[in-house]
Amino acid sequence: MARHVVGRVSEFPPGARKIVEVEGRSIGVFNVNGAFHALRNSCPHQAAPLCLGAIKGMTLPSKPGEYIWAREGEILRCPWHGWEFDLTTGRSIFNPHKMRVRTYAVTVEPDGGAAQEEEDEAVETFPVTVEDGLVILHA
Ligand code: FES
Repeated sequence: MARHVVGRVSEFPPGARKIVEVEGRSIGVFNVNGAFHALRNSCPHQAAPLCLGAIKGMTLPSKPGEYIWAREGEILRCPWHGWEFDLTTGRSIFNPHKMRVRTYAVTVEPDGGAAQEEEDEAVETFPVTVEDGLVILHA
């Protein structure tokens, strides 16, 4: 699988998405509550542009009269007929064992640059955190 830079972390706040073309495939990259996930932008039902759908939560199984809303921001609803998919796994909500959309790995990596100076022991170093790394799609 090839690596494709799709943007910076700062361009993807939680809830944001970006749809990219990679080697002839349309793929949606999502920040789902701080974690990155990528899905093929084609619904397994009738090939709608799935990644343009609404991002929602879902109700959980509960007792009669109870209404439990959960997983806000983790469920993608197809814009054509409303089939719903788990953004974190690609599996459908109504039939997770048989229906799924293709997923791809996404990593966050530092933006190259200053690593060479750390090899010189005479240079004073300081701990650094990556606050605006690159979002890499592996597809
Ligand atoms: S094309 Fe997605 S639900 Fe029909």
